[in-house]
Amino acid sequence: MLQTNFCKIELQNPLVLASGILGTSIDLLKRVEFNGAGAVTTKSIGPIEREGHNNPTVVEIENGLYNAVGLPTPGYLNMNDEFKRWNEIKVPLIASIYGSSIGDYVKITEHLQKYKPDIIELNISCPNKDDGMVFGSSASLTKELISKVKAVSEIPIMPKLTPNCSNIVEIALACETAGADAICAINTVQKEISHPKLNAPLLSYGKGGISGPIIKEIALEKVKEIRDVVEIPILGVGGITTGKDAIEMLKAGATLIGIGSGVYFRGMDIFKKVADEMKKIMQKEGIKSINELK
Ligand SMILES: Cc1cc2nc3c(=O)[nH]c(=O)nc-3n(C[C@H](O)[C@H](O)[C@H](O)COP(=O)(O)O)c2cc1C
Repeated sequence: MLQTNFCKIELQNPLVLASGILGTSIDLLKRVEFNGAGAVTTKSIGPIEREGHNNPTVVEIENGLYNAVGLPTPGYLNMNDEFKRWNEIKVPLIASIYGSSIGDYVKITEHLQKYKPDIIELNISCPNKDDGMVFGSSASLTKELISKVKAVSEIPIMPKLTPNCSNIVEIALACETAGADAICAINTVQKEISHPKLNAPLLSYGKGGISGPIIKEIALEKVKEIRDVVEIPILGVGGITTGKDAIEMLKAGATLIGIGSGVYFRGMDIFKKVADEMKKIMQKEGIKSINELK
């Protein structure tokens, strides 16, 4: 009922662990697999060791999370022991990467080829690093980046887009023209939130990105906008915590559904819960396969 296909990859269900929520540890990814995820995404892997921001980096807000973790990473050259264990994950694995230059993305993509992730996700949309959204805000840079990465990769390439840009449609079109195999949308929505009484920023970085139910409508709207202009499949992320949300995301035009903050709100077994809720809704509506929802 929930089986699907994305970039010629078979998935038991369309529910994907979103990047960053549970790090890169294989043991955590295995637990997510055990709890029913159709695929898992690693935390974004960067070019060189980076500590990320000081605490507080993640706080709960009404209907969501507010974070500026700052992309901590050991650096890809220090992670081979972890990459070697990727084959222990039996569901498709999406490797998320980021860089400060086109050269960074190309080098990491080349390095990852031998570890055979199923998809490489290009994080060009992080609002919590000074240059995190440079690529995702410019159609010409996005196009150049994707064509150079595609030239060195036999693995499907999926850029992850930011809603914090003036025209996401233009960026999505640039992705498709440059040969991207799929699009992931959206990353967190940038905000500057202060403590109401202290009149000081809630997070040490001063600003951050919001996620969870509070951004669901924005995510659905962006996915619809992208769906209207591109043919390539979309992994829709943002605010999905229930089966009803997941079906809305499919109806908006996504083929796969990412779940991030939902793990915090409903636990690691959110994937099983959402899959069961989806099946119940589909049975009630007489829908036999999620392909009918497209
Ligand atoms: C604590 C935290 C860390 C995140 N780290 C990353 C990351 O490393 N790379 C990335 O592309 N997105 C990262 N994200 C964004 C999520 O993958 C997702 O796009 C966003 O949270 C919206 O989905 P959600 O509402 O289901 O959480 C992070 C989000 C949170 C809350």
